[in-house]
Amino acid sequence: MKLRILVTGANGMLGQDLCPILEEAGHEVIRTDTGAPPAHNRALWELLDVTDVQNVRHTLLRHQPDVVIHAAAYTDVDGCERNPDHAFRVNALGTWNVAALCGAHHMTLCYLSTDFVFDGARSTPYTEFDPPNPINRYGASKLAGERFVAQLCRQHFIVRTAWLFGVHGGKSFPDRMLQLARTHRERFVVADQFGSPTYTRDLSHALVELLTSPLYGTYHIVNAGQCSWFELARKTLELAGVTTMEVKPIPASEYPGPTRRPAYSVLRRYALELQGRDFLRPWQQALAEFIRQRQSIETGGSASGAGSENA
Ligand SMILES: NC(=O)c1ccc[n+]([C@@H]2O[C@H](COP(=O)([O-])OP(=O)(O)OC[C@H]3O[C@@H](n4cnc5c(N)ncnc54)[C@H](OP(=O)(O)O)[C@@H]3O)[C@@H](O)[C@H]2O)c1
Repeated sequence: MKLRILVTGANGMLGQDLCPILEEAGHEVIRTDTGAPPAHNRALWELLDVTDVQNVRHTLLRHQPDVVIHAAAYTDVDGCERNPDHAFRVNALGTWNVAALCGAHHMTLCYLSTDFVFDGARSTPYTEFDPPNPINRYGASKLAGERFVAQLCRQHFIVRTAWLFGVHGGKSFPDRMLQLARTHRERFVVADQFGSPTYTRDLSHALVELLTSPLYGTYHIVNAGQCSWFELARKTLELAGVTTMEVKPIPASEYPGPTRRPAYSVLRRYALELQGRDFLRPWQQALAEFIRQRQSIETGGSASGAGSENA
């Protein structure tokens, strides 16, 4: 069924992969963000600041979407720690606005959340049935958003994902490693924090599938497998054929920064497993495609759909 889908944060790393994938699946997409759209794509673009409730109301009522995918967020984890009011304004209040309007107008809401809602004290993957307990302000503000979604909008999907990488924006961890490799001979990388690296294109395809489900609720959607930041860095350089920079393991206690991060935030896709719909591939395969897509762009190819197919 063709849906009219409004995406917040469409200019972000996930949004730029997600919107064309939704369109390829036959849906009509309204892209919204606070910033100007990329020059190549001005169609169906709206400025929308989710912290402004009137702006949210007018935009949703004008476009009357069937589904809102709420990907807008303040995602700078250290920035959230330094400026918690901004974190809660965007991630909690912004989601409150979107959830209240979606609930009042019977729109389905799909909210992107994070593995950082968990404290990382465990050593086995977290399922959707484990209690969240964030240890930093980014996680706390995103969890506040989850609660507004659950309370205010009956038809909702809360999708927790993690360690995203995608070709847009150049801010993802594998991207940073490849950028650093141009100027550095060695880099120390945290080896005692573990997570679920996830390709934005794989997540986008999984979201397309999820939207057809009548089973509203909370889902973990990540690529299969787990690793440390150190292992992710090493695999990135190996797959990209980079031999000029060596990565060396360090404990998180030696990594400077204002933010406590969970030591173990690996997500298990338990809801999808129970429903027999867990088809996400291992993160290493997804990373290999990301590297190919990135290399194709650098040599003048297209950012969309390059290669074989995708926090
Ligand atoms: N990246 C990860 O590793 C990761 C992991 C787990 C979950 N997630 C979640 O996945 C979603 C997408 O992440 P992402 O990596 O694509 O994030 P991103 O690249 O930072 O994109 C977020 C977008 O939201 C926009 N935005 C910020 N404040 C806004 C506001 N007040 N109103 C409307 N738009 C606003 C940002 O614009 P500006 O850039 O101009 O501020 C940006 O374009 C987020 O909800 C995030 O919490 C991400």
